[in-house]
Amino acid sequence: MKQQWYGDTCRLGMVGGGQLGRMFIQSAISFDVHVHALDPDPNAPCKDIAHSFTVGSLHDFDTLYAFGCDKDVITVEIENVCIEALEKLENEGVRVFPQPRVLRIIRDKGIQKEFYKEHNIPTADFALYSHPSELIAAQVKIPFVQKLRTGGYDGRGVQLIRKETDFTKLFDAPSIVEQLIPFQKELSVIVARNEKGEIRTFPAVECEFHPEANLVEFLFCPADISIDIELAANELAQKVIQNIDMVGILAVELFLTSDGQLLVNEIAPRPHNSGHHTIECNITSQFEQHLRAVLGLPLGETDIIRAGAMINLLGAEGFEGPAIYEGMERAIAMPGVHPHLYGKSTTKPFRKMGHVTISGTDILDVKNTARRVNNLIVVKS
Ligand SMILES: Nc1ncnc2c1ncn2[C@@H]1O[C@H](COP(=O)(O)OP(=O)(O)O)[C@@H](O)[C@H]1O
Ligand SMILES: [Mg+2]
Repeated sequence: MKQQWYGDTCRLGMVGGGQLGRMFIQSAISFDVHVHALDPDPNAPCKDIAHSFTVGSLHDFDTLYAFGCDKDVITVEIENVCIEALEKLENEGVRVFPQPRVLRIIRDKGIQKEFYKEHNIPTADFALYSHPSELIAAQVKIPFVQKLRTGGYDGRGVQLIRKETDFTKLFDAPSIVEQLIPFQKELSVIVARNEKGEIRTFPAVECEFHPEANLVEFLFCPADISIDIELAANELAQKVIQNIDMVGILAVELFLTSDGQLLVNEIAPRPHNSGHHTIECNITSQFEQHLRAVLGLPLGETDIIRAGAMINLLGAEGFEGPAIYEGMERAIAMPGVHPHLYGKSTTKPFRKMGHVTISGTDILDVKNTARRVNNLIVVKS
């Protein structure tokens, strides 16, 4: 008998038990798929809703290997994990998506950039340096962007070097250096692929960044771009997932330059912040799509049902402790406003505590409501 993907006969392991995992489980419940989560934090967002929840390190070979041994399928909600353990599991017949080989390319921004170059995927020019002294000796043209090759996330591990006096803050670790791209917009296209090679993209979204935290502050979909750019962004995302030969969902972050070129900035092999609006605004959410992809199921339609905006709820500066969502009731009284709280008990400055989706029939109305909601909600303690 063919093994089923639902009910007791399929054990899906998720490496990481944060908010992405939590929203993934919400979709998995509708498919009666049992998700078992591993996370080092005993209070991680998945702890109460996973089919089973194991507390343990994502970096420790033995812990991750032991977690994976009795699973049929493994996926990740974070890319910074012990890849060696996933490789061993894959060799022993566990289906691991995204494949460990893909995680190896993505985890190191240097290898990731080399991958783009090899496959003629447009990206900002770059150079690799193992130490800041090398970088200084190379007399790289200022301004430039320095990025840690590994370990950075959510803007940490990326910095702009504007002038020579900034050299004192250079990251003292292997890094990549890119020219500063004068982009007009940052876009993101989420694309999914299953084992049969079926591919579906979501319509492009436009990201607006918080100037200090370097986190997405607003996200709008549809993006305010021409049909030609939409199609080109879509094709580029498909090219990336095909060339990297990955199964699962892949977020492709793009720069639209001032002269209308698309450059791939970076990719993430998992559900992504820029796809949260798909829960309310698209026929299939990114979480359901990821589930379908990793289980070898047909992919869902991605069409937009409603225009959408997404706001991250970040812990306000100056507060640390049990979270209070000031203004939430007034916000959700507005049309099309939906909360997503991640179940994190304590807030701290810039911690991602949740998000709010605003949906509507007209993107301009949605943008107005989103800016009002953003001024209204404050995550305090
Ligand atoms: N070459 C670049 N030119 C201009 N801005 C950049 C460049 N690289 C990154 N950025 C800005 O920094 C943000 C974070 O960089 P990114 O490479 O996406 O790292 P992270 O892993 O933190 O998301 C980008 O979303 C973009 O706003
Ligand atoms: Mg990024």
